[in-house]
Amino acid sequence: MNYGYFDETNKEYVITRPDTPAPWANYLGSPEYGAIISNNAGGYSFVKSGANGRITRYIFNSEDKPGRYIYLRDNDNGDYWSASWQPVGKDLAVYKNECHHGTAYTNIKAEYKDIETEALYYVPLNKTYEVWRLKVTNSSDKVRNISTFGFIEFTNENNYENDQVNLQYTLFITRTYFKENKILQTINENTGKNADGTNFRERFFGCVGAPVVSYNGDKDSFLGRYRSYGNPKAVEEGKCDNVLNYNSNGCGALHSVLELQPGETKEIVYVLGQYNDEQSSEILDSYSDLSIVEKELAQLKGYWHGKLGNLQINTPSKEFNSMINTWNAYQCFITFIWSRAASFIYCGLRNGYGYRDTVQDIQGIIHLDPDMAAEKIRFMLSAQVDNGGGLPLVKFNHNAGKEDTPDDMSYVQATGHPAYRADDALWLFPTILKYIAETGNKAFLDEVVLYANGGEGSVYDHLQRAIRFSMERMGDHNMPAGLHADWNDCLRLGKKGESTFVALQLYYAMTILRGFAEVKGDAEYIGYLNKVQEELGNTIQTICWEGDRYIRGIKEDGQVIGSKKDPEANMWLNPQSWAVISGLATKEQAETALESVHRELNTPYGVRVMAPSYVDHAFDGALAILFNPSTKENGGIFSQPQGWIILAEALMGHGNRAFEYFMESSPAAQNDNADTRILEPYVHGQFTEATESPFEGRSHVHWLTGTASTVMVGCVEGILGMRPDADGLLVAPSIPSDWKEMTINKKFRGKDLQILVKNPDGAQSGCKEFYINGEKLDRNYIPANKLKDNNEVVLIM
Ligand code: NOJ
Repeated sequence: MNYGYFDETNKEYVITRPDTPAPWANYLGSPEYGAIISNNAGGYSFVKSGANGRITRYIFNSEDKPGRYIYLRDNDNGDYWSASWQPVGKDLAVYKNECHHGTAYTNIKAEYKDIETEALYYVPLNKTYEVWRLKVTNSSDKVRNISTFGFIEFTNENNYENDQVNLQYTLFITRTYFKENKILQTINENTGKNADGTNFRERFFGCVGAPVVSYNGDKDSFLGRYRSYGNPKAVEEGKCDNVLNYNSNGCGALHSVLELQPGETKEIVYVLGQYNDEQSSEILDSYSDLSIVEKELAQLKGYWHGKLGNLQINTPSKEFNSMINTWNAYQCFITFIWSRAASFIYCGLRNGYGYRDTVQDIQGIIHLDPDMAAEKIRFMLSAQVDNGGGLPLVKFNHNAGKEDTPDDMSYVQATGHPAYRADDALWLFPTILKYIAETGNKAFLDEVVLYANGGEGSVYDHLQRAIRFSMERMGDHNMPAGLHADWNDCLRLGKKGESTFVALQLYYAMTILRGFAEVKGDAEYIGYLNKVQEELGNTIQTICWEGDRYIRGIKEDGQVIGSKKDPEANMWLNPQSWAVISGLATKEQAETALESVHRELNTPYGVRVMAPSYVDHAFDGALAILFNPSTKENGGIFSQPQGWIILAEALMGHGNRAFEYFMESSPAAQNDNADTRILEPYVHGQFTEATESPFEGRSHVHWLTGTASTVMVGCVEGILGMRPDADGLLVAPSIPSDWKEMTINKKFRGKDLQILVKNPDGAQSGCKEFYINGEKLDRNYIPANKLKDNNEVVLIM
């Protein structure tokens, strides 16, 4: 069963049935002015912070209400409906609805009793307010008299928790006013100031295109007693009672009347934001020529499609194409920009960037916008402490050079993060490697960046300190200590416990840094790295390899975690994939470990993070047991590691297996299985329930997940085989053997590459012949100095 389809041409996901298994969301704007909207117009808006800058209400964990509602009423018979299916929820036999989620805009089309509507929602590029453009068309052959009601429910306080629970205060601090074409809301008006000393807040909801004939600034007056969003009294009666709020809940409700000749279309533009009377009038005036909306929409599309255009592919798999060309790429930008700030699951309370999250998020966009990536890499380097570790949480108002660290009580109190994590700074290595490889910008290594707590150093110095951080914190077996946790938040091995995953990350980091040391001609450091890496490699191979798998780690008290002897959690995914990615596993070990993964962890919906789930045999520190079996870290199909296993299989040249894992876990591949997956078929979630769950295949925690970047990397670097290094581009696809041909259009260092891959013999990887601009090369590598502005590349597998 599906609820929609991918429109590749317009880069939209089109929802053809509004009764989706869950609210299927889209992101508008940026955290400067952020708006999350569902296919039924549910959602919320905020300025700068989902928690502290909330301007509109949303009831989390509930029925996707309220939202940005536009009601319509046929004044000749009193029948009413909404431009989105909800909240009125007309019978779908007579009410038709299509939601087009696009890149930073959502357009909801409806048709009911010969009235067609389009409600387009977006935040104009670089603006901090939102626009709703309503188009109403009379497709009948008689004159129609239609009332429209634009409605938004304001919060009474910018802090959303206070707004919800501190009612003895928040109910008595706001007022609304009506002025010509807008409702203006004020908070703490008498003071002229907010509690934090800033000018008191004013929000507005206004419209242009049709006069306002009645209004409400008081929510209860608009909805009526014992009614709800689905049947507001004002809409039912065809008129608001012009009551404003005073010691009650505020709203903006604006009623207009449109007389429509047969075939005629009329438009109204609503604007919502946190601006005062004067500013909001200016903003509204700027829409008096309604055609500006089309220009702003074209600008938005141009911006996003331009970025996505830097890698466009055409393969035999429409699921792969949709994800790589549009949706996975767009999700990478959303996670990059929004981090884990706000969704329908993240309620806006995370007040900063998780170090590892953001450093990994960057990887997903490097091939699409390396400059944007570089800026964030610098930022994250400036959140590295001078001892080499990463700040577990980087505050949104991070003040490089002046921050406290987990060694200071003040940091612990402010962030709730009590200690360093073993892996945080190690994520810098692959991220910086990918950036330098994509751009060829080796000079990046010499850029000087502040440390979080003071002092500065070159990027090269930052990386050396990251290695030192791990080397100075070794456990009893000379592997990096687990510290507070590694990538797996639920794995507490003890401060001196040791994690195989981190050991493999460190091993890989040393390889990467050796490459940089070569660039710098730093022979002494190369000598050091050679020595410590060999020792570390030998240790991992001796202590962690069990013949068909790598163990997950060793607890502080010596207990081995993830041994095949264990009754539960005896097989873990990440040490196997990372043994390959890190380059440590021999070919034989890699083949064996990957086979073990397939045998013991694979499911129809992807690969489990470990199995069997903890039920009776968890060690203390195995926080995963808090979750139901087959859920999240407790044996669930955690989505982020799917990217790593795809990459590992692709690096081994196993195109069939890499693609099998892509398809199992890909949202797009579940489009026709939407009632099982529940989550949006166009975005990755944090995890999918595995075999022991009665709801196997159901996915959770939409949008803001590191999965976007790991799967992107697994697909682009792995399956498509776009593997740049500082001097050129290796083209080494690992594809399903039944793919006969594919094309990859890639922007690389300002040049255009049109790559045609032919696979006449049904290979999964490898290269027989390789050409650039008609010239045959002896291997599948394009030296950067051979690139022209436009390049035709042919690879015959
Ligand atoms: C979610 C966190 O955001 C991510 O950093 C972590 O690695 C995963 N949980 C796995 O525990």
